[in-house]
Amino acid sequence: MNFKTNKKLDMDRLDPTNVPKHVAIIMDGNGRWAKKRGLPRFAGHKEGMKTIKKVVERAVELNLEAITLYAFSTENWKRPPKEVEFIMKLPSQFLDTYLPELIENNVRVTTIGHYDGLPEFTKKAVQYSVERTKNNTGLVLNFALNYGSRSEIVDAVKQICENVKQDHLNSDEINEELISNYLYTNQLPDPDLVIRTSGEQRLSNYLLWQVAYAEFYFTDKLWPEFNHDAFDEAIIEFQNRKRRFGGL
Ligand code: IPE
Ligand code: IPE
Ligand code: MG
Repeated sequence: MNFKTNKKLDMDRLDPTNVPKHVAIIMDGNGRWAKKRGLPRFAGHKEGMKTIKKVVERAVELNLEAITLYAFSTENWKRPPKEVEFIMKLPSQFLDTYLPELIENNVRVTTIGHYDGLPEFTKKAVQYSVERTKNNTGLVLNFALNYGSRSEIVDAVKQICENVKQDHLNSDEINEELISNYLYTNQLPDPDLVIRTSGEQRLSNYLLWQVAYAEFYFTDKLWPEFNHDAFDEAIIEFQNRKRRFGGL
């Protein structure tokens, strides 16, 4: 299988020289997609993996620097254990299937979130792919797994306090850049664009610090229905926005 979409870009509408560097996606609506078809929720999660492949393909074609995909939040543990277990197996299914293509396309796999809280089998699959792709220089495919933005900020604050206490850091040195450097995303530019599927218009504890100046794009499409064209539409919309960053 090749990571080429064969889906032509609509160059009249999408300017490939003006794409966001980092797109953060809240992949929502798998359960509703399944329900609409009388299927169990896990069928929606499985179908959603196909969308991940499509979005990664497009991100590679568009030369994006990074995409961060919200795969499991710290709040998602509230779900029934059977569903959690199913979701936790998806990273290994995705990576076992697509790792060769990811490598071929120079994609680097990374993760953010409470890694230690993941089941062993999830950690193993993720660790292997992270290791195998660590020298790749193309798209960063970043999975937010067991991720919660507030707990990320709490961890950063604790580390900063500890470093001040140990005299490794002076409190005068604490500034926005330093705080960014203590977050899981310290190797990535802040997201320029946040996409959320399924019609919900909230962040659900996603990258709260990092999206301070991101553009938001909400679509009613459920995640398994999202595809290359839908991704292009989001990019086109982004290109039509006027980002001011507080200026004129
Ligand atoms: C998103 O789909 C996937 C995860 C949160 C893991 P949902 O499972 O939240 O689907 P809906 O929102 O119930 O339709
Ligand atoms: C957000 O979706 C988390 C992920 C997509 C992984 P949720 O479905 O968990 O969010 P809420 O509960 O509707 O806010
Ligand atoms: Mg949901």
